[in-house]
Amino acid sequence: MSEPLLLGLNLRAAYRIRLGEIRAVDGVDFEVPRGAVVGLAGESGCGKSTLVNVLLANVRPPLMLKSGKILLDGLELLGMAREEVRKKVWGVKVSYVPQSALNAINPTKRIIELVKDAIRQHKPATDEEIISLCKKRFEELNLPVDSVYKYPHELSGGMRQRVIIAISTLLNPRLLVVDEPTSALDVSTQKQVLRMMLDMKKDRIIDSILFVTHELPVLRQVATHVYVMYAGKIVEYGPADSIFFSPMHPYTKALMYSVMTPEPESRARGLVTIPGEPPSLLMPPQGCRFHPRCPYAMDVCRVREPKLLSMGEGRGVACFLHHSEAVN
Ligand SMILES: Nc1ncnc2c1ncn2[C@@H]1O[C@H](COP(=O)(O)OP(=O)(O)OP(=O)(O)O)[C@@H](O)[C@H]1O
Ligand SMILES: [Mg+2]
Repeated sequence: MSEPLLLGLNLRAAYRIRLGEIRAVDGVDFEVPRGAVVGLAGESGCGKSTLVNVLLANVRPPLMLKSGKILLDGLELLGMAREEVRKKVWGVKVSYVPQSALNAINPTKRIIELVKDAIRQHKPATDEEIISLCKKRFEELNLPVDSVYKYPHELSGGMRQRVIIAISTLLNPRLLVVDEPTSALDVSTQKQVLRMMLDMKKDRIIDSILFVTHELPVLRQVATHVYVMYAGKIVEYGPADSIFFSPMHPYTKALMYSVMTPEPESRARGLVTIPGEPPSLLMPPQGCRFHPRCPYAMDVCRVREPKLLSMGEGRGVACFLHHSEAVN
């Protein structure tokens, strides 16, 4: 088997605040195989965006790295200076479309000016070269070419998101990381964004995708592999089919059939909420962090923390209900 494109080992990171430490990433191993679309799912506040930032070596106060090793396409990121990562990694080997990108994009510049700034961080290029590169890519992706001369607010939400993804990948990075790219969009616009990302992979513009969402079911349409995160830890991972068709962890099951807020519309769609609240990451509960909300909690779950054990066939689960089946 070839080595994964991205590998993170024993990652621990915490926000240092006055009251103590918010351990948002607490002993995570994570892998993006080459050619895969990896989904990372979990409730709001479980640490998904923090994990992504750690995986991309984007750690700044108040976030502190406690431990870990990260290999991206053979480069050991944590051994590199931030400036080196900025030059050699971000935008070149990996493109990152953060959660807030849709609204955070500079509203005073036309798209093409944003592209020029971004490209020139990595290499010298003339205006003509950049315009031609950008137009060619927009054509390939069936985006309206004249949108390169528009201001961000002149594009609809879905179009803006597609444009942001298209321009962030102009240098053909191997990995595209998108954090909640579809959460603010309606279902049909979501589909267009998902389709465009899969087209980019098919056309070899990118090789792999890491897709972050609080809605596990969205991943059904795109993911080849899934990680489920709860309170700073991975509680289950595996090939997408096994996660969707035979989820093991009670939290994965709940996430699949639930939504996190009791909106009337979701109730009308037959969805229910997961009772209780995610725990504080300042003082997580003893034992399994999910036990206060778990309908199957046993005595052992209240006192011992389940390890994330391999169950074979590329999957793993951190739950005592399944640990007698674990493989060594
Ligand atoms: N700058 C910060 N300072 C202190 N705590 C933070 C900071 N950013 C995030 N946190 C805390 O770290 C934890 C994990 O946050 P994170 O944003 O990684 O979660 P998330 O899973 O991405 O949530 P969402 O689905 O809402 O985006 C949360 O408890 C959050 O309040
Ligand atoms: Mg987030």
